[in-house]
Amino acid sequence: MAVVQQIGAERHDDLVLRPDYTHDQPLERYTAEDHAVWRDLFRRQAALLPGRACDAFLDGLKGLGVAADGIPDFERLSDVLEKATGWRIVCVPGLVPDDIFFGHLAARRFPVTWWIRQRAQLDYLQEPDCFHDIYGHVPLLMNPVFADYMQAYGEGGLKAAGLNALHHLARLYWYTVEFGLIEQSNGDLRIYGSGILSSKTESLFCLDSNAPNRIRFDLMRVMRTRYRIDTFQKSYFVIRSFDELFEATRPDFTPLYAQLRGQPDFGAADIAVQDSVITRGTLDATEGGWEGETADA
Ligand code: PHE
Ligand code: FE
Repeated sequence: MAVVQQIGAERHDDLVLRPDYTHDQPLERYTAEDHAVWRDLFRRQAALLPGRACDAFLDGLKGLGVAADGIPDFERLSDVLEKATGWRIVCVPGLVPDDIFFGHLAARRFPVTWWIRQRAQLDYLQEPDCFHDIYGHVPLLMNPVFADYMQAYGEGGLKAAGLNALHHLARLYWYTVEFGLIEQSNGDLRIYGSGILSSKTESLFCLDSNAPNRIRFDLMRVMRTRYRIDTFQKSYFVIRSFDELFEATRPDFTPLYAQLRGQPDFGAADIAVQDSVITRGTLDATEGGWEGETADA
């Protein structure tokens, strides 16, 4: 979305980037309105997420003491996070090149966009801002298993780049880290995907709507599945635990990528015969949220 990119760009084109694309968080550039947007986003999600977000997220949020009162100082946040799992937050101007991104994750550094959306984009923007990056991603980095998964993902990304398999690995990130659901031991579905956790409307849609499919997580199935960046998800993949996810992704993917090369993709809304379906969606497009453009990545 050009407008959003412009908003981001005009606010950081004079920031001095290090070779790894990081820069100091320009705390003095946040306006009172920026902090007010953060507070409003924070309050909305805080009212919604108990009973919807997984316990690990709610615990992590509490443990971080992520200030409800304004955009936090990333250094102070990093000090808390580092004590828990050895991760730190680094500040970046927006999306960074793949190899840079994976390099940070592999070194237990999570890149966070410094700027926040404008009020007109409270409900949706296609580019990550600091509310998505901090509120959506950082609480789960307080969880030791998830923290290790993210580091392993970064190492896997550096490897996949050399094997021409990044699109497969990107789908895994999308359907787990960004849009994953988890089944708690009592059978309740909860959210752990950051793209959902930072969105009021998708936090409701992903659990309450009859429209999307909810399918048991399967590694190869997910890596074959295209995704939509312009609507609510057509399918959510459900894990049972972070241990299950980490175990499934532990093996060397090199032979898996070779296998995937001979297999056709699934569309974002498709159900496969071998799927373990939890709920089959109506795929009612009027419930789709941002329906309009089509992008199946
Ligand atoms: N085991 C994967 C590989 O060999 C790396 C990976 C770990 C990818 C965890 C994703 C998540 O490529
Ligand atoms: Fe994200």
